[in-house]
Amino acid sequence: MDKRALITGITGQDGSYLAELLIERGYKVYGIQRRTSTIVTERINSLLDNGSVETFYGDLSDVNSIIRVLKEVKPDIVFNLGAMSHVKVSFDIPDYTVQIVALAPVRILESLRLLDMKDTRYYQASSSEIFGSSSAPQVETTTMLPVSPYGCAKLLGYHITRVYRAGYGMFASNGILFNHESPRRGETFVTKKIVRAAVRIKLGKQKSVKLGNLDAKRDWGHARDYMRAVIMIMEHDKPEDWVVATGEYHSVREFADRVFDYLGLRADDYIEISGDYFRPNEVPELLGDSKKISDILGWHPDITFEGLIKDMIESAWKEETVAVNQAQWRAPSYLR
Ligand code: NAP
Ligand code: GDD
Repeated sequence: MDKRALITGITGQDGSYLAELLIERGYKVYGIQRRTSTIVTERINSLLDNGSVETFYGDLSDVNSIIRVLKEVKPDIVFNLGAMSHVKVSFDIPDYTVQIVALAPVRILESLRLLDMKDTRYYQASSSEIFGSSSAPQVETTTMLPVSPYGCAKLLGYHITRVYRAGYGMFASNGILFNHESPRRGETFVTKKIVRAAVRIKLGKQKSVKLGNLDAKRDWGHARDYMRAVIMIMEHDKPEDWVVATGEYHSVREFADRVFDYLGLRADDYIEISGDYFRPNEVPELLGDSKKISDILGWHPDITFEGLIKDMIESAWKEETVAVNQAQWRAPSYLR
C-alpha cells in the first residue's frame, strides 16, 4: 500500500518541493493549510489541480485541528515544516514565534502519542539558526547558542524531538538544515530579495535595493537538494539528527556581487544600506559540515552555488517579463 505523508507548511518553499519528490516516490501526500485572507497555494497549485495532493484546513496554533487531521489522514510520516520562518520578524513577534515554532512540535508529538500513533514517523524541520553564535564550521555536536527568538524556538523543537525519541521510542528525527534557497523562496529572504531587485533594475523597473548587514556569511544550498536529503533521513532505518549543508559559505555582499555581475551590473551602484534590515542580534557565520549524512546516507548536493544563482535569476527574469504564454519562454542569451 502507498505510504501516506502529511506535510505541515506544504504551501511554503520546502513543502512544495517535498510534496513533489514524495509523489515521485509513490507516496500519497496530504497537507495542512491555514486559512489566509488571500490564497497562498501558488507553489502547489499544479499538485492541487491534478489531485496529487490533498490539503486540510488547520493551524499549528490549534491542537484540535492537528488532532483532527492526524485522525483523518493516519499518516505513516509527519513532516513538520510549518513555521514563522523569518528570523528578523521573530524579534517583532517573539511570543507568536514561540507558539508556532516551539510548541507545534510538542503539540504534534504529544498528539501522536495520545492517539496511539507512536509508529508514525516524525520529521522536525530544525535549523542551523540553533547554532547561533557558535563559530563555524558547525556539525551535529556543535554547541547550540541561538541568538534570536526564532533560533530559541527551533532549539526547543530540536530537543523535544530527541526527548520523544528517547522517552517513547518514537521514530523522530531532526534535519538541521542550513540556508536553502530556490526560485520559490519567499521574497523577504535576502537571496530572493537581491535576485528580484537586480532583475527589476536590469529591466528598468526599479532603481535600487535597500539591504542590511552585507558581512554575514551563509552556507546556501538549493531547496530541492535539501528536500531529497529530508526523504533520505526519514527512510533511513534509525531516527537520528542530521546536519544538511553544502560545506561552502559566502557573504551577503558576495552573493549580491555575483547576481549583479551575472546581469552585467555592478552591485555597489545599486545597493543602499538601511538600518531597517539589521537585526538586534546577528548570526555572523553559518557553515555546515554534512559529513555524517554524506558518509551514512550518501547524500550530496547536486546544485552548486553558481547553479542556484542561475536558477533563481532565470526564474525571476521569467516572472518579471512573461505575462501570458510561459510555455514559449526562453532565457535571453546573456542569462545562459
Ligand atoms: P516558508 O516558505 O516560510 O514556509 C513556511 C510554511 O509554514 C508555510 O506553508 C506557511 O503557511 C506555514 N505556516 C506558518 N505559520 C503556520 C501556522 N500557524 N499554521 C500552519 N502553517 C503555518 O519556509 P521554508 O523555507 O519552506 O522552511 C520550511 C521549514 O524549514 C520551516 O520550519 C523553517 O523554519 C525551516 N528551515 C528553513 C530553512 C531555509 O533556509 N529555508 C533552513 C532551516 C530550517 P502560509 O503559506 O500560510 O504562510
Ligand atoms: N532578510 C534579509 N533582508 N536579510 C538581510 C538583508 C535584508 O534586506 N540584508 C542583509 N541580510 C542578512 C541577514 O542579516 C542575514 O545575516 C542574512 O542576510 C540571511 O538572512 P535571511 O535570508 O533572512 O536568512 P536567515 O539566515 O536569517 O534565516 C534563514 O535561514 C535559516 C537557517 O539558517 C531562514 O530560512 C530561516 O527560517 C532558517 O532557519
